[in-house]
Amino acid sequence: MDKIVIEGGRPLHGTVKTSGAKNAALPLLAATLLTGGVHRLRNIPHLRDIRTTKTLLYHLGATFEEGDPLSIHTETVDDYEVPYDLVKTMRASVLVLGPLVARFKRARVSLPGGCAIGARPINFHLSGLERLGVNIELKHGYVEASAQKLVGNHIYFDIPTVTGTANIMMAAVLAEGQTVIENGAREPEVVELASCLTNMGGSIQGAGTSVITIEGVSELQPLDHTIMPDRIEVATYLTAAGITRGSITVRPCIPEHVEAVIHKLEQAGMRFEIGDDYITCSAGETIHNIDVETNPYPGFPTDMQAQIMAMMCLADGQSIIIEKIFENRFMHVSELKRMGADISIEGNTAIVRGRSKLQGAPVMATDLRASASLVLAGLAAEGVTEVSRVYHLDRGYERLEEKLSGVGAKIERVKG
Ligand code: EPU
Repeated sequence: MDKIVIEGGRPLHGTVKTSGAKNAALPLLAATLLTGGVHRLRNIPHLRDIRTTKTLLYHLGATFEEGDPLSIHTETVDDYEVPYDLVKTMRASVLVLGPLVARFKRARVSLPGGCAIGARPINFHLSGLERLGVNIELKHGYVEASAQKLVGNHIYFDIPTVTGTANIMMAAVLAEGQTVIENGAREPEVVELASCLTNMGGSIQGAGTSVITIEGVSELQPLDHTIMPDRIEVATYLTAAGITRGSITVRPCIPEHVEAVIHKLEQAGMRFEIGDDYITCSAGETIHNIDVETNPYPGFPTDMQAQIMAMMCLADGQSIIIEKIFENRFMHVSELKRMGADISIEGNTAIVRGRSKLQGAPVMATDLRASASLVLAGLAAEGVTEVSRVYHLDRGYERLEEKLSGVGAKIERVKG
């Protein structure tokens, strides 16, 4: 298996070019199932989760013309079953449930199991679909969904679920009448999906607020869209500048999408210059300790919790980091401790006592963002860090080593 080998201790300086957003691209690829035709998506990131989704669409009968734009032909889709093999490698496969049931009135999709960051049930996706008139049965590890027709309804989510909101929006856009999602997710990726569904001929109001109203339509046009920049990738590179005491410009980006992270990095002593489509940041003399609590957007993203924790390992005091979204998202802690970090965990709270240095070590992680935090720690540590299980990074960071080398990191992928 490949490894990432980092020789730490170099401040990073320069410009990083952002890729398209993974978590925006995944629901948009699923949305191409809503109607037969030739869909065009530009700025699709080259990532493992994208390849998995393309395999899934291919399995259902779609074909592709590679390039930018990526053209996706979905008039040939004639299957509505997604096997366990595809869902077990990527939970976001569940995003096809809404579109399949909306178009074919049936779907058979393997139920995702637990994952490294938490139990992650899909009960809100399923109860939301039931409210639209879909009959749901769980059989032999599969969700079997069927309906005579989909009819709009009021749906309240106990927790604002990102992919749950996406799934229901995609189902409701072809339902009869009006659907109102209350306590819906407000993430930019949900807003992007809503604007694409609107461009396809759907009618959606309120995306970006917690009440989303969808007026069902009887048909949609193919999708033609450029994916927005990845806000978590942007925030990860800003943090890379902070932890290495360097200065980095990240572009293109939508600065508003990373406001919560910038706010925290400013408290940690970093300075920012913010343009329309770029952010330049530079580290302060020292890293100040900060307290962080993850929350649904516009709160501090859970997808940045592990990376900010790596930075706080080198702060000048004690930080309290509270993870409120996923119950098991501290898998990086034991690895960071192996690099010399002083962290203790109490329930969903990590107490990070900053130290003056970290030491390079062989490390591995069990999820994407945890792996990113170990790379950041490695960039700042004394000596050599070897990050194994690189396939986690390849799920969500396009050309990570190349982008970091471009700003002065000593980092390489070693094939194994
Ligand atoms: N939840 C339920 N029942 C449901 C759905 C969610 O209890 O039916 C709970 C979850 O267990 C969690 C909370 O609700 O405690 C929020 O989860 P959400 O459904 O919003 O997460 P998700 O849609 O499965 C997306 C991203 C994640 C990101 C989270 C939170 C995609 C493909 N995935 O997951 O991204 O962490 O929202 O922002 O959009 C990543 O990119 O590394 C990643 C994990």
